[in-house]
Amino acid sequence: MKTVEPSGVIDSKKTAKAKAKWDRSSRFYDLMSRFMEGKRSRKWFVKLWSNVKGPQVLEVGVGTGRSFPFYPDSLDITAVDFSSGMLVRAKQKAHQLGRSVSLKQMDVQKLDFADNSFDTVVASCVFCSVPDPVLGFQEIQRVLQPGGRLVVLEHMRHSNKVVGKVMDLVNPLVVWLSGPAINRRTLDNIRQAGMEIEAAENLALGGILKLIIAKPGKNGRQLSLDTETR
Ligand SMILES: C[S@@+](CC[C@H](N)C(=O)[O-])C[C@H]1O[C@@H](n2cnc3c(N)ncnc32)[C@H](O)[C@@H]1O
Repeated sequence: MKTVEPSGVIDSKKTAKAKAKWDRSSRFYDLMSRFMEGKRSRKWFVKLWSNVKGPQVLEVGVGTGRSFPFYPDSLDITAVDFSSGMLVRAKQKAHQLGRSVSLKQMDVQKLDFADNSFDTVVASCVFCSVPDPVLGFQEIQRVLQPGGRLVVLEHMRHSNKVVGKVMDLVNPLVVWLSGPAINRRTLDNIRQAGMEIEAAENLALGGILKLIIAKPGKNGRQLSLDTETR
């Protein structure tokens, strides 16, 4: 499978389908992630958030708020997700943990924020299911300050040719069963959006799970277009 081409226009049919899937999964999401990752994910989240600098931070695809226990107190954090089911649970969790976070329903493919609004944009396990990941990264680049950073924890296609090919073959079944893709070329997608990869660290599964830090590219910064043409 090739890197997803940025269309510049949201595929509303695909996006509605993905959103409905996440609304349905929201009821079981916490249980499923506890079952699949156990306590292993804790150290990944500590590492992810140790790279986040403020004061203005945006978390995209916040889900049910798995990151909330790792939010540093000093930051001004806005968190978005396109699934209302996920956001209901995130609101409950923020309340239980006493976290101050501004939660908004929003699609990362079309962020309703001004250009240059954030010092860091952070995400965990989101770009495996964003219908057009390149469009999402372009939007992130737009809302980041010129000196800002994108910090993500993502699983992706293995760089080994054979393993990658197997992942391509199995992917349609995985998507059909669970929704998110397992063969996204996330490093390529970030570059294709015009950003520069600063660091990519293999965290688990032989490099399938990575921590990536990227910055807005010199030539690739795309500031907002007239809303009529977007
Ligand atoms: C696998 S969950 C990860 C949730 C959370 N970040 C975590 O680590 O538990 C993926 C999340 O991304 C959200 N998501 C997927 N596509 C999105 C989009 N286009 N815009 C906003 N959120 C999106 C889903 O609704 C879901 O909550």
